[in-house]
Amino acid sequence: MTVPVVTIDGPSGSGKGTICQLLAKQLGWHLLDSGALYRIVGLAAERQGVSFDDEAALAALAANLDVAFLPSEPGEPATVMLDGDDISQLVRMETSGELASKVAVHQGVREALKSFQRGFARAPGLVADGRDMGTVIFSDAPVKIYLTASAEERAQRRYKQLIGKGESVNLAALLEDIQARDDRDMNRTVAPLKPAEDALVIDSSCIPVEEVFQQVLSAVQASLSSQL
Ligand code: DC
Repeated sequence: MTVPVVTIDGPSGSGKGTICQLLAKQLGWHLLDSGALYRIVGLAAERQGVSFDDEAALAALAANLDVAFLPSEPGEPATVMLDGDDISQLVRMETSGELASKVAVHQGVREALKSFQRGFARAPGLVADGRDMGTVIFSDAPVKIYLTASAEERAQRRYKQLIGKGESVNLAALLEDIQARDDRDMNRTVAPLKPAEDALVIDSSCIPVEEVFQQVLSAVQASLSSQL
């Protein structure tokens, strides 16, 4: 029996992390935070002094990660362990996202993480959060969502989120970082960020999160009932 997969892709700060967590919780499905994998590779490379231009060394590192996602309640972020250390907080910091985006341009790194990501598709279902979930990793998923918002709106949201976490941030610098990250993620040659041809595109710039969630949930429910 094939395991149902919902892919939610989109740029940094589009709200896909929140929507994926809500959806996984509502459905009682597994959650793949694929960005965390790239973040972990970036952090491991930094720790081990591996150059961000050394594709072969980064790919080897990605293929041999000593990483564990400790189970949490459905829809809650997992505890992330790297080499036995709890890096759950570190992995979600802005600086780790920047490192992730740099290692993610390499084909070798992406190949090394492919089968690991596909292994998350287990019964009763999977919600997959990323940049290439619908276009590459789960290209035959029955429901694909592409969630986006203007760069200004995403910078505002990220600003509030980080301030809430007690991080010191500057809005203009955040906007610049978001634009640089978009540029790198959308214009790389391997698996660039773009909507899958059969994705439902939702621009959340002016829509409250509850409404975005309802749109996504309706699409998933329609797909599930058509398969019964
Ligand atoms: O979703 P995120 O912010 O945690 O992702 C961090 C970076 O990792 C993102 O800027 C690009 C990269 N990434 C990717 O290339 N492919 C994915 N499926 C997920 C993330």
